[in-house]
Amino acid sequence: MRLRGRKGIKEALEAQPELVVLEPQANKGRWREAFGNDRPIHVELGMGKGKFISELSALNPETNYIGIDMYDELIRRGSEKARDSREVHGGDLSNLRLVRFNIEDLEDIFEQGELNRIYLNFSDPWPKKKHARRRLTHPAFIRKYEQVLNEWGEIHFKTDSRSLFEFSLNSFADLGIRLRQISLDLHADGPRTDLVMTEYETKFSQQGMPIHRLEALIGPKALQAHIERLAGVDEAAAAEESEQPE
Ligand SMILES: C[S@@+](CC[C@H](N)C(=O)[O-])C[C@H]1O[C@@H](n2cnc3c(N)ncnc32)[C@H](O)[C@@H]1O
Repeated sequence: MRLRGRKGIKEALEAQPELVVLEPQANKGRWREAFGNDRPIHVELGMGKGKFISELSALNPETNYIGIDMYDELIRRGSEKARDSREVHGGDLSNLRLVRFNIEDLEDIFEQGELNRIYLNFSDPWPKKKHARRRLTHPAFIRKYEQVLNEWGEIHFKTDSRSLFEFSLNSFADLGIRLRQISLDLHADGPRTDLVMTEYETKFSQQGMPIHRLEALIGPKALQAHIERLAGVDEAAAAEESEQPE
């Protein structure tokens, strides 16, 4: 992502402590306290300009959200987007925090089991094999996510990159992680208006590129609930079948 930084950016970030967390390490194990409630915490890793996390947090005031990126300028743009999205959708900013931080050190800002969901949206594909360990769905990263997610933990992943998607499917499979809602062309039947789109997603899908998506069930309760839901669907289908005339 090409960025042109603005002067006074540090001051701009310091001026909004209710939204921008400049020392996230201090919140490790205390994010619920920081939000002032026990609601689930969902995090987007690599939020870019912040469209997705801003809209999602405005639409879901009952969930807490944290957007992370490694550039000050993106955090500043994200803070503008967050305010714009409140003008459109209403609500306040109390369920959103923006953090400039390197995802590689995730365990320095989150305690074990502190998060309910991680969003990975259009993560850099790092196509060269020698850079595979930098991909955010490398098994070493997934292991980190497993640490900070709780028993209901899920990872939701979207990308336009077929090679990154294939790589990611293998990473999850190698770690024995159950997947659901796998799609190779998310918007094939028209834009999915039930899901908030990211900046990259909007751009790529307008160009006709297929978007790949999956959900990974990390926490045991998330997995159990999914299995029970499937069993319920099977039972309902069997009941319906038995009611059919021979
Ligand atoms: C391709 S952009 C996608 C932005 C956004 N999620 C979207 O879908 O529009 C990837 C983003 O991840 C961020 N990023 C990549 N590696 C990172 C890291 N190690 N720590 C924090 N942010 C990172 C980049 O700065 C960039 O903003």
